[in-house]
Amino acid sequence: MPTIKILPHAEYCPEGTEIQAPAGTSICEALLENGIPIEHACEMSCACTTCHVVVREGLASLNEAEEAEEDLLDRAWGLTPQSRLSCQAILAQKDLVVEIPKYTINHAKENH
Ligand code: FES
Repeated sequence: MPTIKILPHAEYCPEGTEIQAPAGTSICEALLENGIPIEHACEMSCACTTCHVVVREGLASLNEAEEAEEDLLDRAWGLTPQSRLSCQAILAQKDLVVEIPKYTINHAKENH
């Protein structure tokens, strides 16, 4: 099972952590299942940017981003060339190093 190393994030995991999840799982699902409550305002339907993560290592092992994901990512806070929407990024067999950005743009929450 691939290991995902999560870099420290002040709110979600101040010390950083390592989790494991089976190939075929999205990064977002893997985080949530391991108690890291990353935002996922559109319930993982590729319609927001709140699940944005930066894949520092292992990016090439993931499925390619679809156009819809690329379009949304353009609006994400702190976009980098290694950015993915975690609900659309599917684990392969390779380990990853993932950074959760400090901020999100949470349109869905603002509408509540
Ligand atoms: S949870 Fe909305 S795009 Fe991933």
